[in-house]
Amino acid sequence: MNPLNHVAIIMDGNGRWGLKYKNSRNAGHKAGLNTVEKIIKETIKNKIKYLTLYAFSTENWKRPKREINFLFNLLENFLINRIEELQKKNIKLKIIGVKSFSDKLNKLLNTSERKTSKNSKLQINLALNYGSKLELINAFKDLNKKKDKINEKNLVKYLQTHNIPDPDLLIRTGNTKRLSNFLLWQLAYSEIFFVKKLWPEFNEKDYNMIIKKFKKIKRNFGNV
Ligand code: IPE
Ligand code: IPE
Ligand code: MG
Repeated sequence: MNPLNHVAIIMDGNGRWGLKYKNSRNAGHKAGLNTVEKIIKETIKNKIKYLTLYAFSTENWKRPKREINFLFNLLENFLINRIEELQKKNIKLKIIGVKSFSDKLNKLLNTSERKTSKNSKLQINLALNYGSKLELINAFKDLNKKKDKINEKNLVKYLQTHNIPDPDLLIRTGNTKRLSNFLLWQLAYSEIFFVKKLWPEFNEKDYNMIIKKFKKIKRNFGNV
């Protein structure tokens, strides 16, 4: 049975779900937040130590302003209302991505990270304004600045995921088979599951089924 330390999720399909059932993409984002809560609980039950959630990509700025504002409002409210609960549940929150939002949100993200920084049950990495290409370019720039030798060990020091083990498992909901600029380096040897269901429809049962399948996979890492 494979150990499972780190699950990464591309939470895709909110907009389509919202349009289909509520005639509004934003309603889908709201519904998607319920799935986030369910999956966090189930991750703890499964004793998984790291959960990385793709919430907003560097390319998502192309979306209509109204949708972007709605998403960031949702995030702000979530942090304001739920950070105490995360704290009580011994969950550490880390943001990966470039924190260049409103002063209010930047502050809120920083205090949420600081407040939960000593927690140890589960680490949630929230990918916000995250793009893997930008992360890699910035890492190479840092390597260059420090005049560090270019090798794998030195490069990972400058990735946003420094000190976080690579994901064992990647799940993408929403019936699309692509990575959309997510953790391109870190997913080199992850097991990948593409799910047809849209993110608001994804549930604990689907999640546990994938975990069960993952545990039985023969992982080679190049070996035989
Ligand atoms: C959620 O799904 C991902 C975010 C960027 C928040 P989408 O909003 O991409 O939903 P679809 O793919 O358009 O259905
Ligand atoms: C990936 O979903 C980003 C997030 C889930 C946050 P997208 O919906 O933005 O991906 P593309 O544009 O369809 O590839
Ligand atoms: Mg999408």
